[in-house]
Amino acid sequence: MFLAKKIEPQKLFAKEILDYKVKTKKFGLINYVNLDNAATTPPLFDVEEGVDKYLAGYGSVHRGAGAKSKISTDIYEHSRVVIKKFVNAKQNDYVIYTGNTTGGINTAAYFFSFLAGQIMVSAVEHSSSWLPWIKAEGIKLLGKKQYSLSEMEVVNRQIQKLGRAQVIKYDVNENFEFDLGDIEKKLKQNKIKAVVLTASSNITGYCPDIKAVGKLAHKYGAYFVVDACQFLQHHKIDMQKMNVDFLVASGHKFYAPYGGGFLIGPKNFLDEFLPHQIGGGNLPYITEQGEFLRYKNQMAHDPGTPNAVGAVAMMYALEKIKELGLKNIENYEKKLSEKLFDYLESNPKIEVYVRREHLSTVLPFNIKGKNPIAVAEKLNSDYGIGVRAGSFCVYQVVRKLLKITDEKEIIESVKCGRSEKIPALVRASIGLCNTEKDIDRIISAIKEMTK
Ligand SMILES: Cc1ncc(COP(=O)(O)O)c(C=O)c1O
Repeated sequence: MFLAKKIEPQKLFAKEILDYKVKTKKFGLINYVNLDNAATTPPLFDVEEGVDKYLAGYGSVHRGAGAKSKISTDIYEHSRVVIKKFVNAKQNDYVIYTGNTTGGINTAAYFFSFLAGQIMVSAVEHSSSWLPWIKAEGIKLLGKKQYSLSEMEVVNRQIQKLGRAQVIKYDVNENFEFDLGDIEKKLKQNKIKAVVLTASSNITGYCPDIKAVGKLAHKYGAYFVVDACQFLQHHKIDMQKMNVDFLVASGHKFYAPYGGGFLIGPKNFLDEFLPHQIGGGNLPYITEQGEFLRYKNQMAHDPGTPNAVGAVAMMYALEKIKELGLKNIENYEKKLSEKLFDYLESNPKIEVYVRREHLSTVLPFNIKGKNPIAVAEKLNSDYGIGVRAGSFCVYQVVRKLLKITDEKEIIESVKCGRSEKIPALVRASIGLCNTEKDIDRIISAIKEMTK
């Protein structure tokens, strides 16, 4: 039987974080409300505590003979085991640490660029899981010629052009849902080496059927790469059950903002490549001529002194999330999301850009006739509420939601150094630090703003 565990933010985060005060025009000094959790999250108390303890025994990871070095290395290596277990990766998958999701995808794109075939990305990908493929594929196709500095502008354009032709998009319908038939058609018609999918959209929160897309990718001999950075802190991810070969995420989005991120992938794939980054620490021996020898292991992909604090912080965060239970987290956050969604939908002056059946923890909206950037700024300056406004690095989705078909004016204004034409939405996003009181605060602020 599933026993619901009570989620109590005041027991999960330090008082200084939850009681953080900001100056507002309307109410003077007031408790800050953080409704920007899709951008980044505060550290859980257990993460702060774990990191503090780790730092007390901190020493050189992988390289020292001293006790602190050994202890630090053991805990650091153990963090990979915890992460792998959390996402149910395969026993011999590697966890490659990166700075964030962007770093993880860039690393994957580098490896894949050596292989024959094209990449297929979804039409709702964040630019971090779309552009790295274009760049890596484009560089590879550019060939072996070298250039002068003055030629670089042309070369850069050429890289993008070549790369774009290598990266095929699979689209969403008017409800922002994927069509498995269309994905299969594209897989049949092209030689695809990797299918890329975000497990949860950072604009609408929509969580597609990951497992089904992965199954299709495998049917046509493609690897399946999943961007889970908006997903794994809210919902259960199971790499094996969901047919995921590569998984990326960022610690700062799951309550471990210490600069860590990861790419998980299969050993038998990663062993075949030279490490994405190279230098000291990850190679056992370098000859007089600079030939380097390597072991076929995880460490080969871990150059330099690693961000061990980032890695162990992610471990502590995932351990805590596991202890709380993802079902409990899902239920807790859903209640808050639904409360805000119900209000936004009931207000005729608001346009909501997420469908009820896709509702997760992200609520994109606009106040009709008001500039979204100004709305977000007013929520902050007058009411002490932090949300985000903009295109959230997913311009194609915002254009579609706002039904913008002609980009000419936007492009011209951006080229002139202006940003006011860039399409935007306001996004409130919910996390474990939020309570009903936070939702009441934003509802009453929006009520006033739409009076
Ligand atoms: C879906 C998605 N993918 C990738 C990223 C990039 O993450 P990071 O900034 O941690 O590299 C984000 C960040 O907002 C995101 O929402």
